[in-house]
Amino acid sequence: MASAAPKFAIERNAQPVPVADRAKLLADPGFGRVFTDHMAVVRYSDAKGWHDAKITARKPLSLDPAAAVLHYAQEIFEGLKAYRLADGGMAMFRPDANARRFRASAERLAMPQISEETFLESIRQLVQIDRDWFPTVEGGSLYIRPFMFASEVFLGVKPSSEYLYLVIISPVGGYFKSGAPAVSLWISQNYTRAAPGGTGAAKCGGNYASSLVAQAEATKHGCDQVVFLDAAEHKWVEELGGMNVFFVFNDGSLQTPPLSGTILPGITRESLMTLARAEGLTVREEPYSIDQWRSDAQSGRLTEAFACGTAAVVTPIGSVKSPDGAFTIGAGGPGQTTLRIKQKLVDIQRGVGADPYGWVSRIG
Ligand code: PLP
Ligand code: COI
Repeated sequence: MASAAPKFAIERNAQPVPVADRAKLLADPGFGRVFTDHMAVVRYSDAKGWHDAKITARKPLSLDPAAAVLHYAQEIFEGLKAYRLADGGMAMFRPDANARRFRASAERLAMPQISEETFLESIRQLVQIDRDWFPTVEGGSLYIRPFMFASEVFLGVKPSSEYLYLVIISPVGGYFKSGAPAVSLWISQNYTRAAPGGTGAAKCGGNYASSLVAQAEATKHGCDQVVFLDAAEHKWVEELGGMNVFFVFNDGSLQTPPLSGTILPGITRESLMTLARAEGLTVREEPYSIDQWRSDAQSGRLTEAFACGTAAVVTPIGSVKSPDGAFTIGAGGPGQTTLRIKQKLVDIQRGVGADPYGWVSRIG
């Protein structure tokens, strides 16, 4: 976007978390339970446009019970990470791609679009002020969560005339707490995530709300994540509750479901396709059926599968379960291609490897 970012007013938190308490939290933060001292806020109204940009103390919001988001779920969000680089600096991974996806999600949810510059500046300013919150745990990072919701006090069903855009930061370790080398998946046969014409390609809270019952079913069956099939035929693998999926074959090729409008266009997904192709690997964006998945796993044609996303990075898939039975992928642990491609991505993100695509965006 050509428009200049607004100047963010800085209101420092007068009561930040004491240093000793912070150090304890950062030694083992887990995922999404620890938060930094500040947040970014920008307000929107149809009358004033975007205004009142500030970085302020992180604190509870005061919302009218009739705020539209509480009734009709007009809400979108993003997820990206900031890393400490090998040279001590700080950087984000492809934040411009998140800014663009946020704008696309806003459009789908009939919300006003925030400029790419405002989005990026809000994050840069927040990471700067909370720069002492990087986890000390191996593989740790700052998980940045920009989000926007309808705040108009009105019960009519229409796009809100007022919104709040916020950014919060959670210092995180790994997404999966088991620390297991590979995750297990449950195939949801009762529930689908998104239908053609729906909101599957947008990052809106409602998609996740509707996925929870299926995720609970996965957990009940001892699985880490749910995998969704398409809504029309209940046949084609789409994605996981919060990650895209890749398949690796014994001829060295990779495959991932195409962006049909019902799955989230993952930034990790797109980055991994680029890295794999640069290695000379064939990557297909083609539909893959659950029956084919099972028979390829059993015949040995499929050697590896992995999930990918900002939170999960690259996570090997070891086994798949459904009411029709279970099957194992390869030896049930991480495969060589999965590990190699993950390392390539992580090396770029951490500033260890070369960054030929300009994906690393330094802060400060
Ligand atoms: N699919 C879903 C449903 C997600 O929630 C995510 C996470 O953001 C992804 C895929 C992966 O997207 P990205 O790689 O941009 O984080
Ligand atoms: C992310 O990876 O950013 C997500 O939104 C996934 C969510 C399950 C935490």
